[in-house]
Amino acid sequence: MDVFALAEACLSATSVEDKLARSSAAAASIATGDFSTETPVEPQPIAQPGRPSRPRLVPPRKLPQRGLSSVEGRAALVHAVAHIEFNAIDLAWDAIYRFRGMPGEYYLDWAQVAADETRHFQMLSARLAEMGHAYGDFDAHNGLWEMAVKTSGSCLERMALVPRVLEARGLDVTPGMIARLRDVGDLRTIEILDVILAEEVAHVAAGSRWFAWCCAREGVDAQATFAHLVTEYARFVLKPPFNETARRAAGFSEEEMNRLMAQSAA
Ligand SMILES: [Fe+2]
Ligand SMILES: [Fe+2]
Repeated sequence: MDVFALAEACLSATSVEDKLARSSAAAASIATGDFSTETPVEPQPIAQPGRPSRPRLVPPRKLPQRGLSSVEGRAALVHAVAHIEFNAIDLAWDAIYRFRGMPGEYYLDWAQVAADETRHFQMLSARLAEMGHAYGDFDAHNGLWEMAVKTSGSCLERMALVPRVLEARGLDVTPGMIARLRDVGDLRTIEILDVILAEEVAHVAAGSRWFAWCCAREGVDAQATFAHLVTEYARFVLKPPFNETARRAAGFSEEEMNRLMAQSAA
């Protein structure tokens, strides 16, 4: 079984149903450990993975900010998180597809992440249905995939900027979302976000592990390299408050946390 062919099949699926079915099946077969990473075929550039025609993608500033006091506002929030998870499925498969020649555990880790993201999307999409909506009903933006394109040439940069910046940002903002939902008594959505928050720590931790591995392979200092990449590409993403407990559990060192706080304040 060729992991890259499995990953490509997930990336190219255009309907939600296909993407989810292929993703769960591919992750389950990779998890058996019976896979091959020997391939003579070079990865082809993927400008945009397969996706359904809706949601419409718009610039982030065109997305309306809605309060959570109405069902519509809460559905928009659940939709926004579902969109992140849908992208996260593609990002996990792209981490596999794009970067050849990594150790077997690398592919196992990202297949596990893909399985988690698929389940996260399913939970949120079931919640959206309870609220009378479906994925595609609200506009969304393409920021996550744009970071995949920017980092497609380097596993080191991908690990730094996708799991350790974007997914880590999820660790920072989810507790605030949960608190706002608690104010309006939406316990069903909170239950789902609690599961997601707990499981995302492992995704960021996988990013930390493979980022360190890539830095060791290239003989560069991990802390300095991470700080440099953040300044270069992702300064705007760094906003306190940071979820220090979750970030530490996900492999951020004391020194990195101090640097992040200094960078975000600068
Ligand atoms: Fe997720
Ligand atoms: Fe994730």
